[in-house]
Amino acid sequence: MSAPRAAHITGWGHYAPEQILTNKDLEKLVDTTDEWIVSRTGMRERHVAAAHETTASMAAVAGLRAIATAGLAPDDIDLILVATLTPDYPMPSTAALVKEAIGNTRAAAMDVAAACSGFVYAYATAHAYVTSGLASNVLVIGAELLTRFLDYTDRNTCILFGDGAGAVVVSASDAPGGALGIELTTEPQGAYMIWLPSGGSRSPSSGETVARNEHFIRMEGRETYRFATRTLASTALASVRKAGLQPSDIDLFIPHQANIRIIEAVAKGLDLPMDKMFVNLDRYGNTSAASVPIALAEAVNSGRIKPGDRIVMVAFGAGFTSGAITLEWTADPARGLAGEAAVNPNDVHVRAPVDWDSVDPIPAALAELMRRPGGPSVPLDDVIPDEPRPATAGATQT
Ligand code: UT7
Repeated sequence: MSAPRAAHITGWGHYAPEQILTNKDLEKLVDTTDEWIVSRTGMRERHVAAAHETTASMAAVAGLRAIATAGLAPDDIDLILVATLTPDYPMPSTAALVKEAIGNTRAAAMDVAAACSGFVYAYATAHAYVTSGLASNVLVIGAELLTRFLDYTDRNTCILFGDGAGAVVVSASDAPGGALGIELTTEPQGAYMIWLPSGGSRSPSSGETVARNEHFIRMEGRETYRFATRTLASTALASVRKAGLQPSDIDLFIPHQANIRIIEAVAKGLDLPMDKMFVNLDRYGNTSAASVPIALAEAVNSGRIKPGDRIVMVAFGAGFTSGAITLEWTADPARGLAGEAAVNPNDVHVRAPVDWDSVDPIPAALAELMRRPGGPSVPLDDVIPDEPRPATAGATQT
């Protein structure tokens, strides 16, 4: 079998939970202000998963939407990659759960762990599988449920992150286009700048680790910021040059949505105007591995990308990792909205364990915020999705 020459994005889709957490809501939890968060990060609100949702369920919805956009059936997919740092469980892989939830019977499925760079790393893996002839259609998903891994007494981290999922289908093609230049980096000297101490072999979860709050994400914000501003621009530039192009040849950058000031620094570093940078972090916060594919889906569906455009997806994250893909867009952007509408989240089900149920997954502080007058309008602990919603916005849950 001769190897196909190119790997194109043929489908894309995203999913964000209904629940919204605003900066004003966060003011009730920690010593912060809407003004501080907006001016230091650009973020205004983020989505929060309800109790019945998991990383796998959000990934499956985004994945099915990408498959519908591509005009494929679930069984046309022969490899499923899920990039996440918030899997449903340490094992099995979230990808294995997604495979069944989307109704696929034949794909290999595995997770990719590269934190916020995970989607870009997974995309590079899909490109290699497709161009080598090992796979014809790969479903690449970035999905995160970060709001369950945050310390709601730590204002340095709890204001930054949100939940969601984005996906693409990467398909074999003999036509030119797809990825033109790929750059991936890993710098382990930054390994403990963003990390989650317990739950692994170095420190398995126990009552003691929980008492020490070691089940939450920790971050050295300033060090991470320095790494991000230095690396995002250099990694993007390396990938653009590998494609034989210059930054001015690029129509749109899809950067990891961690902080508006970081994205502004990248634009400045590449000597480009901000209108070449797609930004949606004001409505999502930082969704880690989901950030780039959610932004990509929104960029295409809002008419910012057309066939023939050259785009760069670029991310950085814990590890420290970074990655960039320079690619030529070939798909019909009009397909995206129909693909999104084709999948109802309530129709997607992830296999549950037999004879086991989880504890309430919503962190106590977030649940408490929910119960306050003026808190988010839809109950987070709505474990039955088809239940009628509260009649009025702002209704409280007891
Ligand atoms: O996907 C990768 C994940 N992480 C990132 O990309 C994060 C990268 N880092 C950042 O985006 C920024 O460093 C932050 C947004 C996290 C922080 O912004 P900063 O401008 O670097 O603030 P800082 O850490 O230098 O803190 C400045 C001050 C400190 O007070 P003092 O020491 O000057 O009195 C902080 O305690 O701001 C304080 N501060 C806050 N104040 C109000 C930190 N967080 C908050 C907050 N509200 N939420």
